[in-house]
Amino acid sequence: MSLSVRVEQHGGPEVMQLVDLPLQPPGAGQLRVRHQAIGLNFIDTYQRAGLYKVALPSGMGSEAAGTVSAVGPGVSGFAVGDRIAYAGGPLGAYSEERLLPAANAVKLPANVSVEAAAALMLKGMTAWYLLHRTFPVRPGTTLLMHAAAGGVGSVLVPWAKQLGATVIGTAGSAEKAGLAREAGCDHVILYREQDFAAEVRKLTGGSGVDVVYDSVGKDTFAGSLDSLRRRGTLVSFGNASGKVPPFEPVLLAEKGSLFLTRPRLVDHIATRAELETAANALFAVIASGVVKPEIRQRYPLREAARAHAEMEARQTTGASLLLP
Ligand SMILES: NC(=O)c1ccc[n+]([C@@H]2O[C@H](COP(=O)([O-])OP(=O)(O)OC[C@H]3O[C@@H](n4cnc5c(N)ncnc54)[C@H](OP(=O)(O)O)[C@@H]3O)[C@@H](O)[C@H]2O)c1
Repeated sequence: MSLSVRVEQHGGPEVMQLVDLPLQPPGAGQLRVRHQAIGLNFIDTYQRAGLYKVALPSGMGSEAAGTVSAVGPGVSGFAVGDRIAYAGGPLGAYSEERLLPAANAVKLPANVSVEAAAALMLKGMTAWYLLHRTFPVRPGTTLLMHAAAGGVGSVLVPWAKQLGATVIGTAGSAEKAGLAREAGCDHVILYREQDFAAEVRKLTGGSGVDVVYDSVGKDTFAGSLDSLRRRGTLVSFGNASGKVPPFEPVLLAEKGSLFLTRPRLVDHIATRAELETAANALFAVIASGVVKPEIRQRYPLREAARAHAEMEARQTTGASLLLP
């Protein structure tokens, strides 16, 4: 049996139920994985609430790390006892043990702990594709990262610094601003108090930044467009404050021939080769010490509802784990 979180209807944190599910032996192409640490991500709240539709009833959670407890027929490259991690689903990470397509798992190098992997796989591979694929950040790039003290922010900021960028971060409180500076931000704007687009203009001598990474969505979309240089790029990759409302594409012309993209991690790790490229890039920056697992909240698996409530109330910083 495996203690697991299930959702039968969309709603608040209270719709997550703890159930004891029977465990099947792994089928063809599958591994059975005993979790040691489970990554919490803001996307989990969208899937629970119904902002992102999932077929119900459903498990919860897209990211975890642990050890292989059984190997299904036809699987090569994995053995019982291997330390592995995965990110991007399928849903069901909020559990003690589960079945997983072997194609989604990567073996952990000796220098990456299971806790670090659970904290970093999803957020770190996201930071990788945002910085290397969506907009290639180079020495001289000036970027704006919203929620810089959050999970993805705590990974993307030091990585962007290592690539030679000037990083402007936003943060929801003075304490978070301190964490964003510690992560490497050159400048931090308290966007609940200040007009962040006006501050960005001041910090860039009036020109605006090359790229904005915006995962806040509804509340920041307009200001993010106003923070860009002519022909700059808005990367809208999340909706922590709600979905971006519909708008006329001509707005992008009026604001300076801007580029807008709305990417997802799953489309950047869709093949085995892409997954390995992303994971290896992440493992390299962990090994070099550029990216560290900033695990600042740990919750027992049984307290997943409290974890969601705190995440949605903007009370978390860095990465959060559920521990089975
Ligand atoms: N597209 C992709 O591939 C992809 C992959 C991973 C994550 N994401 C997105 O990236 C974002 C960050 O994910 P994460 O798991 O690392 O979460 P997180 O950054 O740890 O938490 C979200 C943060 O957003 C900020 N925020 C601003 N307005 C908010 C509001 N009204 N309600 C709640 N939070 C608000 C808060 O920071 P402040 O208090 O500092 O404002 C909050 O801590 C999420 O939007 C997530 O969906 C997208």
